[in-house]
Amino acid sequence: MSNAGTQAELVELGRRFLYPNYRQPSLVVERGQGSVLWDVAGKRYLDFFAGIAVSALGHAHPALARAIAEQATRVVHLSNYYFNEPNVRLAARICEKTGMDRAFFCNSGTEAIEASLKLVRRHFWSTGQPERLRVVAFENSFHGRTLGALAATGQNKYKEGFGPLPNVSHVPYGNVNAVRDVMASDVAAILVEPVQGEGGVLPAPPGFLAELRHLTTQHGALLIADEIQTGVGRTGTFLGIEHDGVKPDVVALAKGLGGGVPIGAMLCREALSQALPPGSHGSTFGGNPLASAAALAVLETLDKEDLLKHAEVRGARLAQGLAEIAARHPRLVASCRGRGLLQAAVLADNVDPRALLAKLQDAGLLVTIAGAQALRFSPPLVVTDAEIHEALQIFERVLENFA
Ligand SMILES: Cc1ncc(COP(=O)(O)O)c(C=O)c1O
Repeated sequence: MSNAGTQAELVELGRRFLYPNYRQPSLVVERGQGSVLWDVAGKRYLDFFAGIAVSALGHAHPALARAIAEQATRVVHLSNYYFNEPNVRLAARICEKTGMDRAFFCNSGTEAIEASLKLVRRHFWSTGQPERLRVVAFENSFHGRTLGALAATGQNKYKEGFGPLPNVSHVPYGNVNAVRDVMASDVAAILVEPVQGEGGVLPAPPGFLAELRHLTTQHGALLIADEIQTGVGRTGTFLGIEHDGVKPDVVALAKGLGGGVPIGAMLCREALSQALPPGSHGSTFGGNPLASAAALAVLETLDKEDLLKHAEVRGARLAQGLAEIAARHPRLVASCRGRGLLQAAVLADNVDPRALLAKLQDAGLLVTIAGAQALRFSPPLVVTDAEIHEALQIFERVLENFA
């Protein structure tokens, strides 16, 4: 299966039978290696989107492939009726890495947010403060697609046609005074992304996250860090919030955690460990041995290959390269921003990001659009210097021709 005819046939099948809620181009990916993907027609692409900031170890990493294959020969699934070794080891490892005390596993980022919101609500219900129902979240945020996670999302385009949704106060990201104004005795939690990913790769301004920690403590509310996009080393520290020296009460993880195998996690402090007693919340697949073995392999490889440092150093190189390109093409690229290997080139208002994305794809570079005008570069954490150099060269060449 490796020719253009096969590709056309598969595209036709996809367009005929898949639910049409996505906008795929006529490209069918067959395999990958590290930060490179090949389509079924044999064309090579640099993968600087990594399945929306997921494939932390790149594609076909031997440690991840081995862990999945070996676990599949033992036991793939059990449900949570019994403990399984990869899962309990993963829980211990992830608590150690994040400074949290308890881990609940699920299958996606949205589910990790939903679990966090339910945890917070039930915590206050069970401790005699049932009036604490309101969540404070941020304009331009993205937290997921279930009705609870959607309610917290601060972008109307995702909510259209799905209302009415639970009450969430949305305030401008980075504006401490706006947060202070909405804090009251009915606030259960502040939910924040250390870098707004889908909103356009916007890092929190210096001091903002520390101020949120201060305000939640002062008002008896909880701080939930949505680390679904920023966690697992993407910004150069294990959690994005570590850059600010802040310890949240609840952390939501997913994306990079399984290196592409679906797994999410809600982590919390011991003080919240009684809020969801047996029967109150759960997941059939959450924390299954296969996904847990994959996540353990990801965490081990992060250490073994020093990938946090790698994300910091390669991220700085990518950021510098993008800034240089922006300086040479000010009419096309308005600015650059990001942290670690989550970077964006913000396109000028007159540039159509979808048209540019298509040209980049033709030239062999896969990236994504975040927010209205940001081109997001989120390669695997194993990306090499040579690959960053090549991606920047492709980007600049396409910009020159685009102009
Ligand atoms: C910050 C953040 N929260 C939540 C989600 C939802 O995660 P999932 O798509 O795995 O449900 C995403 C996905 O992009 C995200 O970036």
